[in-house]
Amino acid sequence: MSYETITVEQRDNVTLVTLNRPQALNALNSSVLEDLIDAFAAFEADDGQGCLVLTGAGEKAFAAGADIKEMADKPAADFYNEDFFARWTSHLVKATRKPWIAAVNGFALGGGCELAMMADFILASDKAKFGQPEIKLGVAPGMGGSQRLTRAVGKAKAMEMCLTGRMMGAEEAERSGLVARIVPHEDLVEDAVKTAKTIAGMPPMAAKVNKEMVNAAYETFLDQGVLHERRLFQILTATEDKVEGMTAFIEKREGEWKGK
Ligand code: HXC
Repeated sequence: MSYETITVEQRDNVTLVTLNRPQALNALNSSVLEDLIDAFAAFEADDGQGCLVLTGAGEKAFAAGADIKEMADKPAADFYNEDFFARWTSHLVKATRKPWIAAVNGFALGGGCELAMMADFILASDKAKFGQPEIKLGVAPGMGGSQRLTRAVGKAKAMEMCLTGRMMGAEEAERSGLVARIVPHEDLVEDAVKTAKTIAGMPPMAAKVNKEMVNAAYETFLDQGVLHERRLFQILTATEDKVEGMTAFIEKREGEWKGK
């Protein structure tokens, strides 16, 4: 399948999606959204694919934000009536139960930072820069940034970044808990694909359940989250992959997974 604004490549059991509007620093317009929705749905439906990596084409940017040129003349009523930005969450976050990684290779600003934070975790190149500069355009984050950034780095840093528009470099982002790991720029995609292959090699149902559990920590109180975790754990003990995983450990060999 070929797309106008992204490229999609399968590396064994890993889907590599690259935002491909480098002339606009991979700004996120409606076509990018439609292409991503399609690519993510294909990934989710393909039993041969276990993890997805999202990165940006070009030397400078993961994505420099929602496309300002597309939004500049749009009437407020259209933003509301179209529920503008809702489909990013419903399709890329809610509908994607398999794990995916954002490999941030440069600017991740505004909607670009918000898109990266929709991923299950972020791997950052040493050139990555994160920010929510929407305030300088007279607006504010609209794709979950004020919520996800605050949960990731805490109120003080999130508030400072949203109110000043200041960017955070890779070192600070790692120190603050926004990114899982920093990778040398030139190795970023290969490292992310390797990490994704590790995940794709795990028992598929356990991968989805682990993702669901960690996400529950964001969405529930501790008591409910711990109960939710325990119930999901108990369900996993009924799978064939649990029997295989524990047997393989005892027999000192690699497990062979069935996804059930
Ligand atoms: C559309 C963009 C863009 C964007 C960059 N470009 N960001 N086009 N939307 N978000 C385009 C520029 O217009 C330019 O096109 C080309 O990409 C290269 O950008 P330059 O500015 O020339 O590059 P540089 O000088 O290196 O500066 C890089 C930059 C700057 C610091 C990242 O581009 C920048 O500040 N971009 C905007 C970042 C931003 O505000 N993002 C948040 C958007 S709002 P031409 O054709 O001139 O060569 C958002 C959510 C809003 O995401 C929610 C509202 C409801």
